[in-house]
Amino acid sequence: MFLGKARAYTNIALIKYWGKKDETCILPMNSSLSLTLDAFYTETSVCFDKNLTRDYFSLNGEEQSVQQTAKIAAFLTMIRQQYQLDLFAKVESTNFVPTAAGLASSASGFAALAGACNQALQLGLADADLSRLARRGSGSACRSIFGGFAEWEKGADDASSFAKKIPSDDWENELAMLFVLVDDRIKDVSSRDGMKRTVQTSSFYQGWLETAPADLQTAKAAIAAKDFKALGEVTEANGLRMHGTTLGAVPPFSYWSPESLKVMTCVRQIRAQGLPCYFTMDAGPNVKILVEKKNISQLKALLLNDFSENQLITANAGPGLSTLPVE
Ligand code: DP6
Repeated sequence: MFLGKARAYTNIALIKYWGKKDETCILPMNSSLSLTLDAFYTETSVCFDKNLTRDYFSLNGEEQSVQQTAKIAAFLTMIRQQYQLDLFAKVESTNFVPTAAGLASSASGFAALAGACNQALQLGLADADLSRLARRGSGSACRSIFGGFAEWEKGADDASSFAKKIPSDDWENELAMLFVLVDDRIKDVSSRDGMKRTVQTSSFYQGWLETAPADLQTAKAAIAAKDFKALGEVTEANGLRMHGTTLGAVPPFSYWSPESLKVMTCVRQIRAQGLPCYFTMDAGPNVKILVEKKNISQLKALLLNDFSENQLITANAGPGLSTLPVE
C-alpha cells in the first residue's frame, strides 16, 4: 500500500485560461494569472492498493459513481502509465467551503490529488513538475500549487507548460476577494465544454487570443508596481472579454444570470463613489470582487443594501500546496 495526503487551496484567475490547444495534455491557448485564496480548499488522500480492482473516489464522505470517478480515474491512469505502476487507488477528498453553495473547485481538487500522489509514490517532484502533473487533471489546478499570485505559462508542450509563483513582495496580503453567491445550481455548461465550444465555433475567439498576452503583461506590471487600480482594471476587462467569446459561440451561451449583472452594476456604482473594486467571473454566475483589504468592510456594508450576509464570502490570499500526515 502506498499512502499520501495533501491540501490545496483554490485559485481565481485574474487573467483567464480560456481554450486548449491540446485536450489530452491540457495545454492552453493562452497564459493566465491567478490569486490563490484561503477560503476554499480540498484535502485529498490517496491509497494505491494491490487488492483494488478499480479506482474508487469518495467526496465529502460519499462514494461517487463510476461515471463521477471518470476524471480521477483518467488522471490515475496517466500516473500509472507515466510511472509504470500497476495498482488501482482509493481517493478520498473533502472540500472545505464556507457554505454549501457549489463553490467546490477542480483547481484545488486536482492540485491536492497531485500532491497526494507525489507523496504516496515518493515521486519527489519539485513545484514545477507538480504543477505539470496537476495540470493534467484540470488546467487551472496547475496554479494552485503556489500561494499568492501565480502565472501559468502556456508553454509549447507538456514539459514547458506549468505555473510558477510571481514575486510580489507579499502584496497579495493587502488584497482580498469578496465572493457574491447568486446561484447554487449546477452550472449548465462546464468550463471544459464551454471553452471547447468557444475555441471551435466563436467568431470572437481570435480577438481573445490577440488581447490576452497584453492583459497578462499589464497584470504582471501592476503586481510589480503594487498598482491596485491597474490590476483591477485589467482583471475586469479580461474577464469581460472571456465572457464575450461565449456570445459568439455556436450555439451561443452565457454564464451570466440577471443577478450576476446586478452585482456588476453595484460594483460599478460603488467604484463611481470612490471605492476601488473590480469584478471577475468564471464558468458560472457567481461574481468575485477584487478589493484592497482595507476597504473590505466598507464594500461589504454597501453590498448588504442589495444582497444578504450569507451571499457574501470574504477570501484572503492563500498558501500553496502542502502535504499532510497520513493516518
Ligand atoms: C473560467 O481548469 O476548470 O475558471 O482544464 O478543462 O479542467 P479544464 O478547465 P478548468 O477551467 C478554468 C476556466 C476558468 C478560468 C481560469 O481559471 O483560468
